Amino acid sequence: MNVRDSEALAAILIGKGYTPVEHEEEADLLVFNTCSVREQAERKAIGKIGYMKKLKKLNPGLIIGCIGCMAQNRGEELFHLLPHLDFVLGTNQLHKLPEAVEKIVRERSSYQALSEDPHEVLAAMKGHLPGGIFGSIAITRGCNRFCSYCIVPYVRGREVSRDAADIIAEAESMVASGCREILLLGQNVAAYGLNGDVRPPADDCSPFAELLEKLCRIDGLQRIRFTSPYISYFSERLISVLASEPKICHCYHLPVQSGSNRILQLMNRQYTAESYLEKVNRIRSLIPDCTFTTDVIVGFPGETEEDFQQTRDLLNEVGFDHSFIFKYSPRSGTKAAEMPDQIPAEVKEERNAILLADLEKRVAEKLKNMPGTLQEVLVEGVSKRNSARWSGKTGNARTVVFEPDGGELCPGMLLNVRITQANPVSLFGKIER
Ligand code: 5AD
Ligand code: SF4
Repeated sequence: MNVRDSEALAAILIGKGYTPVEHEEEADLLVFNTCSVREQAERKAIGKIGYMKKLKKLNPGLIIGCIGCMAQNRGEELFHLLPHLDFVLGTNQLHKLPEAVEKIVRERSSYQALSEDPHEVLAAMKGHLPGGIFGSIAITRGCNRFCSYCIVPYVRGREVSRDAADIIAEAESMVASGCREILLLGQNVAAYGLNGDVRPPADDCSPFAELLEKLCRIDGLQRIRFTSPYISYFSERLISVLASEPKICHCYHLPVQSGSNRILQLMNRQYTAESYLEKVNRIRSLIPDCTFTTDVIVGFPGETEEDFQQTRDLLNEVGFDHSFIFKYSPRSGTKAAEMPDQIPAEVKEERNAILLADLEKRVAEKLKNMPGTLQEVLVEGVSKRNSARWSGKTGNARTVVFEPDGGELCPGMLLNVRITQANPVSLFGKIER
């Protein structure tokens, strides 16, 4: 979501006559779009912005801003921590970036805005940088779920959905300028259009599925993905659209967080390990070639060895293609930060290492089966690493590198590639026409 927000802001600035530069040393304006989800993300951002002090010494006219979740979370405090900072803009004020910069240039004062109304930002963040085969659209902002560990509902505010017509117009204009694959974004993306209702939709209901159907009708758009959905919002209506629309990629990121029902309840998640697995199996029964990835937290307050073992078992049972493993990080203001039995760092580290080792084993196993398979690849262009080769992406977002075969080859086309070699980062193969 931050990458997408940064792109929209870059487009706004370019529209106002600013020019992007390659290196931070050349810039007159540096904007840090920050994350708050774990303490480490905040620490990194503060470290990086702190380091910029030396650039300001070399270029006293340099303007430095901190925006996004950490800006919203820490506000005023950031000016004390980072005295060379010129402005702070919260999550719903991102679109005020040009105004902030102009005011600073005019008045040489600092600037801070942290408001709550999400509608303006929603309407303003539509621009895209030209030329991409792969693009993304934020269809909702904010989150109403209040998982007990998570700071997002506090820093990004209540969930709001954009009008379908607006989203479709944005997608059409992206496709007209060459985009072929769109990633739909939202903190709880499948809750699109439910007006913040936290009850899972009935089986025959899914405004998100209706939006997907409309997007699938756009000529020239080849692929649609989305992230991150919450499994309880996978109604039968949604699953049947995922199964029947060929443009929607068959890979689903479904954060599970834990495999222990006791911990899931403490996390205020809305499912059990059993109901999660049931939904996964239901999706698999209708879409047999689908793959799953997930997010999981180790060391949530009170997590016992037995709870952890249940998480480990669930991850292995689903056989995720990838899992993002996070050590629980207490976020001030959230319920879990106040819970008893916080887990020591060494235990989190140990559990993290165990899940990583399990993941590596699973990934190695899956990679063994890749050579010989035929993959549909959306061509991106000449490979960045080796200009004699081209690269593209499979339907489940794996990079594939291949050599031109003398036939027609251009960015945005779909090709069949027979895989010859596979490593955790890329697949290599031969075009098959
Ligand atoms: N500590 C660790 N991981 C967290 N996540 C969210 N909040 C925290 C936290 N306080 C993880 C969840 C979420 C992902 C984006 O970040 O797994 O799905
Ligand atoms: Fe955070 Fe996701 Fe839960 Fe929302 S659904 S509170 S963003 S973990």
